[in-house]
Amino acid sequence: MKNELEQLKEEFLKGLEDVSDSLGLEDLRVQYLGRKGRVPLLMKRLPTLAEDVRKEMGQLGNEVKRTLELAFTETSERMQARERQQNEQAQWIDVTQPGVRPELGHLHLTTQAIDEISTLFARLGFVRVRHPEVEWDHYAFETLNMPKSHPARDEWETFFIGDGGRVEEGEKGKIVLTPHTSNGQVREMEKGQLPIRMININKTYRRQSDASHVPMFHQFEGLMIDKGVTITHLKGVFDFFVKEFFGQNREVRLRPFHFRFTEPSMELDITCGVCLGSGVNEGVKCKICKEGWVELGGAGMVHPNVLKAGGLDPEVYSGFAFGWGVERTMAMKSNLNIDDIRVLYRNDLRFLEQF
Ligand code: FA5
Repeated sequence: MKNELEQLKEEFLKGLEDVSDSLGLEDLRVQYLGRKGRVPLLMKRLPTLAEDVRKEMGQLGNEVKRTLELAFTETSERMQARERQQNEQAQWIDVTQPGVRPELGHLHLTTQAIDEISTLFARLGFVRVRHPEVEWDHYAFETLNMPKSHPARDEWETFFIGDGGRVEEGEKGKIVLTPHTSNGQVREMEKGQLPIRMININKTYRRQSDASHVPMFHQFEGLMIDKGVTITHLKGVFDFFVKEFFGQNREVRLRPFHFRFTEPSMELDITCGVCLGSGVNEGVKCKICKEGWVELGGAGMVHPNVLKAGGLDPEVYSGFAFGWGVERTMAMKSNLNIDDIRVLYRNDLRFLEQF
């Protein structure tokens, strides 16, 4: 029994050297010192020994047990200290280190342009409004002096809202994705608050796509109605906007045109911001303008039939209206050099992050 006790001690001490973590250490303790461990099992044999050796073996057994417990406690404390240190090192945080900044996005170029346009017109007292982009035919065409089946409607290349191919028709006609912000004209008059100085900026839709056309674009529609409004007021508003938005060195021209809802009507062109009015960009015909001028939008004096449709007396009130494309107007800023407006909506961050 003496030899067995000595052997147990040696094996346990050797086991302590080999153990690498506190779980392994606990296993070892249970195996030797636990209730059914090897040391208690051996001690259970004491009563079977002859009386003269029993006492001696009892003392020896207790000594071995104490030695093992002591060795276990020392190893356990050493191991816990080491593990604590390792954990502290692994979890140590330098609270003085600068954090990782989350990437900040920014407003889309079109939204930036809309903000700039609204701010400029606010300085002239034009109030920003939004009229529906899903609209009745009544406001998009009918009340704008374009009766049903009028050929002028074709120019708007309109998307109709349908149901399984069937086009819905309500009391105000079919439902369309509005092809221009002019739908806001009669809606604004119907509010019955005069004088009117509105700037309606919204999404508009047409079945078109090329370097200067996208199927979803934005327009800003100005409408001023009061007693005694004349075309010189319109010209004054244009001059202000063009100089503030594009700078002093760009040229604009008014070109007679025809719209059903204004009389007289005109279009406003600006010298192209990509080829700077030459019509040639990098040795080839300019993709965006082809001839040095770019059309920004239409305008004119509100047609008497439109005033009547909005419940106003054309003998008392007069007004002007204009509707320009936001994307095209913005692309004409000289420093942008956007020669294909479709790039605005391709969601290519390499392009968008530049602005
Ligand atoms: C109109 O939409 C008229 N409602 C403008 C108007 C308002 C005239 C008030 C008179 C009084 P037009 O179809 O020309 O007109 O379009 C106006 C501008 O919208 C164009 O000059 C262009 O800048 C922009 N635009 C038109 N279609 C597109 C398109 N598919 N993509 C991008 N911009 C477009």
